[in-house]
Amino acid sequence: MDIFRTKSVEQSIRDTEAPEHRLRKRLTAVDLTVFGIGVIVGTGIFVLTGQVARDTAGPAVALSFVVAAVVCGLAALCYAEFASTIPVAGSAYTFSFATLGEFPAWIIGWDLLLELALAAAVVSVGWSGYFASLLGSMGFHLPASVAGSEAVVDVPAMAIVLILTGVLMAGIKLSSRVNLVIVVVKVTVVLLVIVAGLFFVEAANYSPFIPPPEPTETVEGLQAPLIQVLFGITPVAFGVIGIFSAAAIVFFAFIGFDIVATAAEETINPQRALPRGILGSLAVCTVLYVAVSLVVVGMQPYDELSTEAPLADAFTAVGQPWVAGLISIGAIAGLTTVVMILMLGQTRVLFAMCRDGLLPRRLARVHPRTGTPALLTGIVGLVAAAMAGFISLSALAELVNIGTLFAFVVVSAGVIILRRTRPDLRRAFRTPLVPVLPILSVLACLYLMLNLPIETWLRFLIWMVVGILLYFGYGYRHSRVARAGETS
Ligand code: ALA
Repeated sequence: MDIFRTKSVEQSIRDTEAPEHRLRKRLTAVDLTVFGIGVIVGTGIFVLTGQVARDTAGPAVALSFVVAAVVCGLAALCYAEFASTIPVAGSAYTFSFATLGEFPAWIIGWDLLLELALAAAVVSVGWSGYFASLLGSMGFHLPASVAGSEAVVDVPAMAIVLILTGVLMAGIKLSSRVNLVIVVVKVTVVLLVIVAGLFFVEAANYSPFIPPPEPTETVEGLQAPLIQVLFGITPVAFGVIGIFSAAAIVFFAFIGFDIVATAAEETINPQRALPRGILGSLAVCTVLYVAVSLVVVGMQPYDELSTEAPLADAFTAVGQPWVAGLISIGAIAGLTTVVMILMLGQTRVLFAMCRDGLLPRRLARVHPRTGTPALLTGIVGLVAAAMAGFISLSALAELVNIGTLFAFVVVSAGVIILRRTRPDLRRAFRTPLVPVLPILSVLACLYLMLNLPIETWLRFLIWMVVGILLYFGYGYRHSRVARAGETS
């Protein structure tokens, strides 16, 4: 039983050339950067900033963004090497197949479902909240049963997911154009927050910049962060520790740069374009986040920030409701692209898994006219819409974080492994300081994972057990690598 059979890098690249499974190469480095910004700037900055400043970090939330950005930057440097060496759809899944073997690759692919499809549903619910609030400010009130946290069925969330599924099925170039327009609107609104907000900043709000540590209400049982149980640390809010705890939460704001790598196969000159797209979008977002959070905590005392719509409400608080309205529109536009690209990434990862036979291959046919895996896109859209409509997902956002961090750990370790097993491969982008940097990346991601609640760890483990059963029930027997006898 060889569950660690690997798929050679050459085979991965050859597979992309089979006509019925070939995606069209149309994207450039600029398209990728836009894709990156489109999926990164979302719920994290528009919603979490206020919550985290108020409860965990105070004005120092800007530093939490820096910490999370450093963790993501380390992982991004590892993703960039992989993406430039194996420019094949599937991201971390494909990378693991080449290095660790089929079973670990399946585990990662299964884990990415937790990052991508689940996050798309979570963000579409956030979209629905902003949508309802904008309609409300114009005098239209949606019934509580179809929108908002009390809803029986979240209709706007389902609708947005289904509309975006249609856009994706129509073809990637169309979707990247739609994305470009929305990203421009979103970034303009973020810049507006920074520039307009500067006029209302008061120095007094920055002091103390790092509020003194306070013990938080004892979080017990399954809610407690794993690190607390393992090391017997009492959770405190604020202080220097607060900056790091907050980093584990605002990590969500950076999720998405890795999705750029999932578009590898549709990229022109991927060896150069991918690293630029990944690192470029991460850098732009870091600057925006630090600037926005500094402005927002300067506009209001941190303990008065709103937790639902902190950016908009800060302007309402200083008597500028029209700016608040514009920000809501920007948030709606911003969250739209986040949902869309998360689903795009999800279809591409599943596409690679189907092509390898670990899931039914016929699901991965490329539509002859649009050049996209239309059937698979439709399935992902329906599943995400069902989750968005019927499941309350706020607690599951942490599950998105743990799934993503786990993938980062594997990719970072994979860089070291591939350097040893395949030193001959052409690497257009080389991660600096190997193995020190990938090791730091693994440790940094593990540290953030340990800050997540035990409950999240349990859900994560259950999901993984289901995945393992599926692999032995289906994938192991249908794997193409196994059939070709191409084991190593
Ligand atoms: N980074 C994305 C967001 O903040 C997932 O919504």
